[in-house]
Amino acid sequence: MSNEVSSILQGGYHHPLSRKWQGERELSKSMLVYPIFVTDNADEETPIPSLPGQKRWGVNKLIPFLGTLVKRGLKSVIIFGVPLASDAKDPIGSKASDPTGPVILAVKAIKKEFPHVFVMCDVCLCEYTSHGHCGVLNEDGTLNQDKSCARIADTAVDYALSGADCVAPSDMNDGRILAIKKGLKKAGVAHKVMLISYAAKFSGCLYGPFRDAAGSAPSFGDRKCYQLPVTGGGLARRCIQRDLNEGADAIMVKPSMWFMDVIKDAKQIAPDVPICCYQVSGEFATIHAAAKAGVYDLKTAALESFDCLIRAGAGFILTYFTDQILLEGWLDEQ
Ligand code: PBG
Ligand code: ZN
Repeated sequence: MSNEVSSILQGGYHHPLSRKWQGERELSKSMLVYPIFVTDNADEETPIPSLPGQKRWGVNKLIPFLGTLVKRGLKSVIIFGVPLASDAKDPIGSKASDPTGPVILAVKAIKKEFPHVFVMCDVCLCEYTSHGHCGVLNEDGTLNQDKSCARIADTAVDYALSGADCVAPSDMNDGRILAIKKGLKKAGVAHKVMLISYAAKFSGCLYGPFRDAAGSAPSFGDRKCYQLPVTGGGLARRCIQRDLNEGADAIMVKPSMWFMDVIKDAKQIAPDVPICCYQVSGEFATIHAAAKAGVYDLKTAALESFDCLIRAGAGFILTYFTDQILLEGWLDEQ
């Protein structure tokens, strides 16, 4: 149909409200998951230079800080352990599930103080391995999938038993989702712990600030043989399908903004499964750097980025902007 009337579209989005109706969903506080770095030094509160405004927290300082955010509507956090103790690392990442380590202590403290906050734990070994890779190695330096999955599953179960609402393995070892789901079932907690797969996790330059913050850069080689190649759209679809078959309750795409096609693919492959994305450290730092250089206004750019991620299919978003969004009330006028 082509006539004078059907070519006029602007009337449909002239008003701010009619513009909102063009989107299927709107960014809300419950879509935000705040990534936090927790160290084993209980009184620490150290700014992370590569992540503007973000800090590494000791448990004692973290709780009051989160208290302020909870009052402003914080619903969920994802915890990353940053072990600083001199004996924190060994070849198999034993300390990942240390009951006195930062992650387990933080989970317990947060659940005790804020029982309604949904606590996610990133599950990986790279912060705890002496070689800095995301699993247990074979002699040739490659990842041993069986040993890695067993360690990852044990770690995930320990986090779940300490009270985490969700475990999210970011290691990319083949078979980890099945191993974790079985482990949770055996431990009697599979019915109350969500398992989110970082199914489509791509290798690349955008994790740099995180690795500085977490001290988790590999001591040799890189992660290209387990994290996905950025060109691998088909591979990502296969990973998503595989992890769904192994029992993932939700699928994550990471990084986010360079991979919106993958978010859309995930939504198409799994329309009935929550899809999330991780706006990673390099994306956060990039938005900050560009705003600082005068390219755009920080808040405008950040909010546009979230709208685009939601348009692509994301149902929730892990972002380092969460604290600023809540503290400055970016979503309070909805
Ligand atoms: C650990 C892990 C990483 C990130 C989340 N979990 C680093 C990596 O894989 O090298 C990156 C998050 C970010 O950059 O914000 N496996
Ligand atoms: Zn890792």
